[in-house]
This record gives sequence, structure tokens and C-alpha cells, in this order.
Amino acid sequence: MRIGVLTGGGDCPGLNAVIRSVTRRAIVTYNWDVLGIQNGWSGLIKGHVEPLSLYSVSGILHRGGTILGTSRTNPKDNRDDWSKLQHHLKKYSIDAIVAVGGEDTLSVALQLHQDGMKVVGVPKTIDNDIKGTDYTFGFNTAVSIVTEAIDRLHTTAESHHRIMVVEVMGRHSGWIAVHAGIAGGADAILIPEVPFDIKDLCKQLKKRHEHKRFSIVVVSEGTVPKGGNVILQSEKKDAFGHVRLGGVGRIVADEIEERTGIETRLTVLGHTQRGGSPTAYDRILATRFGVRAVDAVKKGDFGKMVALRSENIITIKLEEAVLENKVVDMDLYEIAELFFG
Ligand code: F6P
Repeated sequence: MRIGVLTGGGDCPGLNAVIRSVTRRAIVTYNWDVLGIQNGWSGLIKGHVEPLSLYSVSGILHRGGTILGTSRTNPKDNRDDWSKLQHHLKKYSIDAIVAVGGEDTLSVALQLHQDGMKVVGVPKTIDNDIKGTDYTFGFNTAVSIVTEAIDRLHTTAESHHRIMVVEVMGRHSGWIAVHAGIAGGADAILIPEVPFDIKDLCKQLKKRHEHKRFSIVVVSEGTVPKGGNVILQSEKKDAFGHVRLGGVGRIVADEIEERTGIETRLTVLGHTQRGGSPTAYDRILATRFGVRAVDAVKKGDFGKMVALRSENIITIKLEEAVLENKVVDMDLYEIAELFFG
């Protein structure tokens, strides 16, 4: 048996931990061959593959990024790419694929499965927006990075009596904002799931400043003003039709300063949220996902994605995972709200 492993979409901490555990499980437990496919689906279209050994995956557990490289290549709507991909699967005698990615990468995996290929998916994204799994790896690291940033912003906000606005990633789900906002003690958290009213926000901040002289406002990049539209960094779409989000933090910070008269500063955390070393939690989750993905191949449990449910790793249908994004649990947001103002 020969399996191929690839990482697609935006990178995130923990990808190397999955590559390592997939390789180790396949070689040590099942005596299979493992091929690393470079740069996501692009590697299968171009035939860029390399054998992985216990040696080549040693020493990578703690490293961020992905040793295989990644890309947002979408072969689904391009017949030529699709046939090149099929050709390379045959050429390199790849019997099954472990595809590590978010909803886009997993939607290609689903199409391959529907075409008769043996595929198992592993969910990754710092955004934690994949349906069917309690958590994706990468999320815990991103939340830790944002929480640390909020802690640091707190001390400077307090010294200068300012309002600090922090823009965080997450696409159309506010998971990073809510988790890091609760952990960092944010005074307001704006998320895509709850359109915001700038007047109400400023009223709330002014009231707070009657007794406190600083505030932290966390803004998720996909946040929408009431009755308005999502703010784009660029209208240019990627291969999966996604526009680039970002910029809402600037608008919110400027409006706050203008309306409250309180000095306000913006910090955009950007890609620092998905760079660097994974937390222990993400290393463990990624390792468990990798091992169970290879076990799913062994069992013939194809067209599935490994997922965390409570304390267990289960498999669910890829269809279920890519159907729609997982949005923030409003019970959790209600807890966050208790500390606003
Ligand atoms: O999906 C992960 C993510 O980091 C989002 O939170 C963000 O909007 C997007 O990727 C940015 O991607 P890139 O800059 O790599 O195109």
C-alpha cells in the first residue's frame, strides 16, 4: 500500500505534527510507503511528490508551517488539471490520499472520493470553522497568540488611557475573537455572527470610561456593521472564490475616536496568528488526527474526515464537513458579553 499526504489552503501550526504522525503510523504500524505531495493539490497536478521516511519527518513536531508546502490550488473546475491529477495518482501508484486542509481542500477531497479515489480528510484551520469537529488544530495556537497580544495591549492601553482595537482573523466565523477575547478580558468583541452598531458600541465605551480609563475592543475580520457589508482588503478572488477580508478594524478604530473623543489605536495581528510553533494542545490534536486518518485508510473508511467529538476522534462524512461553516456558539458569546463595558 502506498499513501500520499498533502497540506492545502492557508498554513497553520500543527501541520508538521500531522505529516509526522501520518508517516509514522503508516510505516511503523502498517509497513506502507508514504509519499509527500508538495504544495497541496498543485503537487498532484504537476507531479511534485517525494518519498517520506521516518528520518525525513523527525524533528518537525514543534515547527510551524508545513514541510510539504501549501497552496490554494483548486483543480475541481479545470478538466485539464483534473486529468493531470488523475494521471499522477496512477503514475506514482498512490492507493489512497490523506488530505489535510480546510473546507476548500476538503471539498476537492470529496470530489476525488466521488470519482472513486480513496481519500481521508484531516481538518485544519486557525479559524475553527469546520463543521463536525469540536476543534481544528491551529486554533488553540492562534488563540494563545491573540491572548498574549491582548495582555500586552492592556498594559500600554492602561498607561496611555487609550482604547485599543485589535483586528483578528477568522473569516466569516468569530471563534478566534470570542475565545481570545474571553481569555484576554476584552471590553467588547465584534464578530461576523452579530452585526454591530457603532453608536451602541461608542455609548458602551463612553460609559465604561466614566470609571475606567482604557478599553480593549477585539474585532474579527469578517465583522459586518448593521445594515452594511463585509469590509474587503481586496476584491480579487482566490481559486475557491474567496475575497480577501480585512480593514474593518481601521474603520471601527477611526469611528470610535471620532465619536467618543478618546484616543484610539489599532493593531492588526494578521499572519502572526498562524505562524510559529504550535501549542502542546495543537501538537497532540494534530498527532491524534494523523494516526486516526491512517487507521481510517486501513479500515477502508473512505470519503470521511477525522473529527474531535468531546474527548474522542471519530470519522464523519466529508459531505457533512464541507456543507457550511461552523459559526460561533451564541451561549459562549453571551458569556463573553457579560464582561463588556
Ligand atoms: O483561513 C485561514 C486564514 O488565516 C483566515 O483567517 C484569513 O482570512 C485567511 O486565511 C488569509 O489567508 P491568506 O492571507 O493566506 O490568503
